Amino acid sequence: MLDLNDYITSIPDFPEKGVIFRDITPLWGDPKAYAEATRRITHFAKMRDVNVVVGPESRGFLVGAPVANELGTGIVLARKPGKLPRETVSEKYTLEYGEAALEMHKDAIKPGEKVLITDDLLATGGTIAAAIKLVESLGGIVAGLAFMIELKDLNGREKLEGYDILSLMSY
Ligand code: PRP
Ligand code: HPA
Repeated sequence: MLDLNDYITSIPDFPEKGVIFRDITPLWGDPKAYAEATRRITHFAKMRDVNVVVGPESRGFLVGAPVANELGTGIVLARKPGKLPRETVSEKYTLEYGEAALEMHKDAIKPGEKVLITDDLLATGGTIAAAIKLVESLGGIVAGLAFMIELKDLNGREKLEGYDILSLMSY
């Protein structure tokens, strides 16, 4: 069986001293590994009757779009501020390396829709906690959270208690 860990490169001292950066670009560059990661997340979503996928900008788009395609659902974009053209809801959060916010169109999720939120990586959990707030503020039900990588030491899971989480790899 294909080991997805073989497609992650660890870069010491990036973007700052003491941080080991887990680089997913080799996985995205390999058609078999990318398809396998997509297949595993899609399976998780299918088991939870997901009707729509949400991916946070920008690397979350690379995870969410092929999953939505394989599931046969649409994808909703959670974007950085000022990018979406219509009325939005907005949520601020703190990142491992600073402050940020995410926005979604107000009509992007219908009340009662079952949502998979997916991203490349769970670090402190700030990004996903903001995405959850946006989805729930629109009446969506968060049916699952899926990540390619979870960075255990940053305790992101603590912010996500009560949600059903899939991580394909942990470091
Ligand atoms: C990265 C990553 C996750 C987030 C994880 O995105 O893609 O979305 O950080 O960190 P957290 O769990 O501490 O919130 P980033 O904001 O760097 O944006 P990018 O996808 O545009 O590179
Ligand atoms: N790898 C990729 N993206 C990240 C990381 C990492 O180690 N930490 C925060 N965002």
